[in-house]
Amino acid sequence: EKVGFIFDLDGVIVDTAKYHYLAWHKLAKELGFEFTKEQNELFKGVSRKRCLEILLDIGNISATQEQFDTWMVEKNVDYLAYIEKMDASEILPDVPRVLEYLKKKNVPIALGSASKNARPILEKVDLLPYFDSIVDGNSVTKAKPDPEVFLIAASNLGVTASSCVVFEDAVAGIQAANAANMISIGIGEDTILNEAKYNFKDFTEISDEFLESLLNKNHK
Ligand code: G6P
Ligand code: MG
Repeated sequence: EKVGFIFDLDGVIVDTAKYHYLAWHKLAKELGFEFTKEQNELFKGVSRKRCLEILLDIGNISATQEQFDTWMVEKNVDYLAYIEKMDASEILPDVPRVLEYLKKKNVPIALGSASKNARPILEKVDLLPYFDSIVDGNSVTKAKPDPEVFLIAASNLGVTASSCVVFEDAVAGIQAANAANMISIGIGEDTILNEAKYNFKDFTEISDEFLESLLNKNHK
């Protein structure tokens, strides 16, 4: 039985969380309040629309539909200005090694992200060719922790859900992978991502031997 690998984007492949933060921080400032790094944790894996709703809650601001739409656009314009300047140097450590290893073994690879900017980011950092399928914020109706994004990815790869491995840095993402009955691997703080089957700080901790054990399904 074939094994498939699914990668989240923000915080797993590239550290775009800092750019999301800067863009939200700027908007909050304009609206007259401070948006902290700690609060930004709540935004990981969460859709742009939901993030703005949470931000307005934090600032205790009620918006008309028109204002809401304007701020959504404004945040994304600012975010895209950061993305514009990205290059391969912003790929997180050892991600290329892992992708290369899987490619060599002919393992199907998908992206499973809530971002509507996933494709341009992968293009910017030159990783697009590694992905057999891209499932992003434009192709899903239900946000993580709903498993939809990962189930579509598995189906696109032609792999059974239970034979998929998911790399995630968000709590909602780990929950989505678990709900899809996939092998969830947390990238980041194991105390935060304690629902994951396996935890690593980053990809430098993931050995070829471990990847091999996932492919052969003889991992514990
Ligand atoms: C990822 C990030 C979130 C972000 C979401 C939507 O899940 O972790 O912080 O809000 O994507 O991104 P977008 O690029 O569509 O605004
Ligand atoms: Mg993420």
